[in-house]
Amino acid sequence: DIVFSLGREKSSTLVSALRRGVPPSYPHVVRRGGCNTAAFMPEAAGFEGVSGRAALQEFSVSNSEDFWAAVARQRLSWIRPFHTVQDCDLSRGRIKWFQGGMLNVSVNCLDRQVHICPERVALIWERDERGSEVRYTYRQLLEMTCRVGNLLKRHGVRKGDCVTIYMPTCPLAVASMLACARIGAAHNVVFAGFSADALAERIRDAQSSIVITMNQGVRGGKVTELKKTVDTAVQSCPTVRHVFVAMRTETLVPMTDRDVLMDEMLKEDVVCEPAAMNSEDVLFLLYTSGSTGKPKGLVHTQAGYLLYAALTQRYVFSYHDGDVFGCVADIGWITGHSYIVYGPLANGATTVLFESTPVYPDPGRYWETVERLKINQFYGAPTAIRLLLKYGDQWVNKYDRSSLKTLGSVGEPINTEAWEWYHRVVGEGRCPVVDTWWQTETGGICIAPKPSEPDEEIVPGMAMRPFFGIKPVLMDTEGKVLTANNTSGALCIAQPWPGMARTIHNNHERFIETYCQPYPGYFFTGDGAYRSPKGYYQITGRLDDVINVSGHRIGTAEIEDVVNQCPAVAESAVIGYSHDIKGQGIYAFVVLKKNMKIKEEDLYKQLNSVVSEKIAKYACPDFILLVKRLPKTRSGKIMRRVLRKVVESDLDSLGDLSTLDDPAAVQEIIEGHAKISMK
Ligand code: WTA
Repeated sequence: DIVFSLGREKSSTLVSALRRGVPPSYPHVVRRGGCNTAAFMPEAAGFEGVSGRAALQEFSVSNSEDFWAAVARQRLSWIRPFHTVQDCDLSRGRIKWFQGGMLNVSVNCLDRQVHICPERVALIWERDERGSEVRYTYRQLLEMTCRVGNLLKRHGVRKGDCVTIYMPTCPLAVASMLACARIGAAHNVVFAGFSADALAERIRDAQSSIVITMNQGVRGGKVTELKKTVDTAVQSCPTVRHVFVAMRTETLVPMTDRDVLMDEMLKEDVVCEPAAMNSEDVLFLLYTSGSTGKPKGLVHTQAGYLLYAALTQRYVFSYHDGDVFGCVADIGWITGHSYIVYGPLANGATTVLFESTPVYPDPGRYWETVERLKINQFYGAPTAIRLLLKYGDQWVNKYDRSSLKTLGSVGEPINTEAWEWYHRVVGEGRCPVVDTWWQTETGGICIAPKPSEPDEEIVPGMAMRPFFGIKPVLMDTEGKVLTANNTSGALCIAQPWPGMARTIHNNHERFIETYCQPYPGYFFTGDGAYRSPKGYYQITGRLDDVINVSGHRIGTAEIEDVVNQCPAVAESAVIGYSHDIKGQGIYAFVVLKKNMKIKEEDLYKQLNSVVSEKIAKYACPDFILLVKRLPKTRSGKIMRRVLRKVVESDLDSLGDLSTLDDPAAVQEIIEGHAKISMK
């Protein structure tokens, strides 16, 4: 049976007792920090002499164990308390938090809310069809989750199995994620825009035996054939035993013996016993792109992830009880996991599931939704803001946005113009804009302007301040820590935090190589950053070959792999270039095989269809330039830096070309690019 320990103890004695592994005695001495601090963050009440946000930040980093122990005890409900706050060694890629503790994530997100206020709305499903939203209370979501959990169990899903979810943002997708958490299975949500090949690769790598999908998806008035895509994908996935099919539209789709209608869940019981999970059991895998060909399945575990998602959702957005939280991301990305599902639900929030697009049926969609659902925190992507800005203020002003309190931005740098517009027009100059920096790897927001004191400045386009427990450092090219302000370097995080990814599924070596080895003892983010004279952080972009198209991460190598599979192509080089709406666009340089005769248009068509077939539509190149050769070093390495400079028309800083094998290649590319850009 679940024991609800809503832990209200606020004592540092308790915290240190816990840390030593001693069962705590009842704390009779409650020492309070500054009144403000405790009012702002109840968990901080026991931190002696800590007053104000800056002091709290300092405490969270230098007394990290005390900080996280207190927060974990108070914010999560444990089945069994943890005995060790952390056991981490970043240099060896060992990251463990709250060992000895047992809990169930779905109980934290659902049952404890149902105990307090069962009729509170958990989800508002903002369906593609405007004005047809559907609300689910915590009680209903718990019942739906239990039914799905029982259905999965009936079909052989056991603790430790992995369930792939290929669904757009909708209540059943959320219930499926939570059902996995309830019965102790891991989930692997695959963005429903990925192709059959991309889906198959992720199912295989995750060794998933179950897929949950929908007959069809509906987005922006268009129908996508999700079940059909799954059918194609599972042909190359021998491990898949069952495909569960939910019905989003009336259209019947062909079913096989392997397929099970999700409606079967109606026969299941509304009670499903939650599995007692260890803090470090796997909660989910989520695939993301790295700088080499194969996407990596980042692994997040139970307690630390949930705690970090909940704490950041509460404090970065100043979420308060009763607020309607509107994160318009897709659940297929980490933003959806942390700020549509886990963070808000763990805090008992009402969270919006946005199925549509920013421009459907017209560019007022977001703000009309804000008015109708009375959204208090709106969290979106810069690419959408840039797009909407171009349509003009009237689409915003038409609707009442007085419910808005905080505006968030995520996924890519937000340029000053977009930031100002978001702040001035959307937020009427009265809502703080929080530009939040983080990654699939970090589990939750790491750098953001909030929390900070109400009167503290927010600089447009800057992520600014580290979150509690986060210690950012900048590194120079020799791997030395840069201590001065007004400097740029590789962004690392100096100590572990509970929300960070634990490993790459089936490839811990790659985890260590990518994140732990570049700067031993530090977590390397892959991003570059600038620290201002006042100590604020601004993210300057990726340092590796990962690009960010409309907030979607994609490795250039991944695209090259696919382009190179075209029969006519000998080799290719793909780079990102700055694009005024998408943030980055994709530019492919292609060399054809000798004596290959193919019309340019046909080649472009072929390349586009192969990329959308093998990866997804968003990965299709915006520009393709046919060249005779690529600029290479004498050892055969493609000099992408040169390609980037040409595309940025920054010919004066092509840099050192002395290692080039054939300098004429550069001239040819410059000329070819000039022709393309004149078109
Ligand atoms: C980029 C998304 C600038 C960054 C949550 C990071 C950002 C990658 C910001 C992670 C921001 C994310 N400013 N760049 N506020 N937020 N990024 O894993 O390059 O899809 O490494 O996670 O997006 O993308 P991911």
